[in-house]
Amino acid sequence: TGVLLLWAVIGYLIGSVPFGMVIARVMGLGNLRDIGSGNIGATNVLRTGSKKAALATLILDGGKGAVAVLLARWLAGEDAAQLSGLMAFLGHCFPVWLGFKGGKGVATFLGLLLALAFPVGAACCATWLVMAIVTRMSSFAAIAAAATSTIWMLFLGFGHMVIMGGILTLIVFIRHKENIRRIRAGTEPKIGKK
Ligand code: G3P
Repeated sequence: TGVLLLWAVIGYLIGSVPFGMVIARVMGLGNLRDIGSGNIGATNVLRTGSKKAALATLILDGGKGAVAVLLARWLAGEDAAQLSGLMAFLGHCFPVWLGFKGGKGVATFLGLLLALAFPVGAACCATWLVMAIVTRMSSFAAIAAAATSTIWMLFLGFGHMVIMGGILTLIVFIRHKENIRRIRAGTEPKIGKK
């Protein structure tokens, strides 16, 4: 239990680094809180007009989820890997550094799933991509990818992960509350639009 607790903390700390905010600040793109949805993720970084910054945010926010999994797996095994990945996701959504007001967890959840159970991660990425192409809404694609994650787990032989999948799904939904309201109202912006 001591080891697992340690990896919970390490995973959380890795996940809590708000790369989007740091990149926007360093590149002089302004404060993400004053831009678009006010979110710290790649979708909102894209609203600054910098594709490069958005791509870097996507890779780093996804990468930290993968790193949290791979580091724990390497040093402490599979249970620690799963916990560390989940905690990285929670760290991104609720970072202590930003008064627990963080991101929506999409890139981090895709990154951690790619590292933890590659087929599931790939299926979720594919779901995101297809839905993004069809709807042109990042949030809609994210909600679809999260909502299908447990189904992919069951289908692809990772049934032991469904509780974690359920937690990921629930939190992605909660973090997209405003987006869901806008989608229903027909006012959710398309990818790349203000
Ligand atoms: O990655 C978060 C995305 O699903 C929605 O972002 O900025 O449009 O609320 P945003």
